[in-house]
Amino acid sequence: TARNLLLLPGDGIGPEAMAEVRKIIAYMNAELGAGFTTDEGLVGGSAYDAHGAAISESDMEKALAADAVLFGAVGGPKWDDVPYEVRPEAGLLRLRKDLQLFANLRPAICYPALANASSLKPELVEGLDILIVRELTGGVYFGEPKEIIDLGNGQKRGIDTQVYDTYEIERIAGVAFELARTRNNRVCSMEKRNVMKSGVLWNQVVTETHKRSYSDVKLEHMLADAGGMQLVRAPKQFDVIVTDNLFGDMLSDVAAMLTGSLGMLPSASLGAPDVKGRRKALYEPVHGSAPDIAGKGIANPIAMIASFAMCLRYSFNMIAEADNLEKAIAEVLDSGVRTGDIMAEGCRQVGTVEMGDAILAAFKKL
Ligand code: NAI
Ligand code: MG
Repeated sequence: TARNLLLLPGDGIGPEAMAEVRKIIAYMNAELGAGFTTDEGLVGGSAYDAHGAAISESDMEKALAADAVLFGAVGGPKWDDVPYEVRPEAGLLRLRKDLQLFANLRPAICYPALANASSLKPELVEGLDILIVRELTGGVYFGEPKEIIDLGNGQKRGIDTQVYDTYEIERIAGVAFELARTRNNRVCSMEKRNVMKSGVLWNQVVTETHKRSYSDVKLEHMLADAGGMQLVRAPKQFDVIVTDNLFGDMLSDVAAMLTGSLGMLPSASLGAPDVKGRRKALYEPVHGSAPDIAGKGIANPIAMIASFAMCLRYSFNMIAEADNLEKAIAEVLDSGVRTGDIMAEGCRQVGTVEMGDAILAAFKKL
């Protein structure tokens, strides 16, 4: 089977982190017969410099044709003043929109070796493994009307509208239940049905979807504010959390701080399955282009490598390989090898390339 990847390294530390994934892909092709074909494209500031757009039409076509897109990061001070429509982030937004990536998966995993780096007490987060499933294409970020109205009397009115249709809630709930079946079989749905009509509908549709097709999964409902509180009080009670675009944005950032550095966090964005049951997908680290450390060879490549592990798991069903790659990351951390952002007493500080090499070496042995 052909496995077609499009690599979009982007700007800043994006290319530095992507180089470490390229080494893993080359190894998997040469030694494991993985059969990846890779194509490359430009996105963000580097695409603007080359084409005057945040992503070219030909790279968009490649993205649409690929089985999965690996995305580094975009942006940086060099492009702070480019026109709004072609700003670096526009490349990512265009990809999400055209690939119809409605499900954003943000794992919050606390590697035992990093439990001390959490904002919480180590015993509250050690072994933490939760998955936040955020609806990405609907809700208040896109609902109409969305405008600022001049009321004339020196007053203005800012309006955003939260809109969710049944099908949008059904499909994101379906993703969450299916993922839960591959994990610990538990879903917690979060909304604010006490004050929002869209929250009432969300709760109803999730409940019906569960009853109709996923009654083997344990389902719980929580108000999103209480959910935020529980997330920092006792995060290990959760397995899969499913929530809307706005709450998901906030709750996933809160969950991120339970686990240590930004340089550790992967993500996936999935689209609807096609006739063959294959989903369009994009995998990217949560962090940005980190202009403050770009070009120095010190960026942590783990978020990018862990994003590739998610790609193996969700786009290619290569579960053993994904497990092993994640295990390799954990082993390297256990051995005390650290990039600067996760450095701790008694550990050995290394750069991007050495960290990538260490993870590849550990992966080869598994
Ligand atoms: P950032 O995530 O790039 O950096 C925040 C801080 O974390 C910096 O001190 C950085 O050095 C550190 N950091 C981030 N990733 C790291 C890694 N892998 N290893 C070690 N340290 C790491 O966020 P910031 O500074 O707010 O934004 C910088 C640029 O990135 C901006 O142009 C912003 O628009 C863009 N950005 C792009 C995103 C994307 O491509 N998806 C997401 C967030 C920001
Ligand atoms: Mg956010």
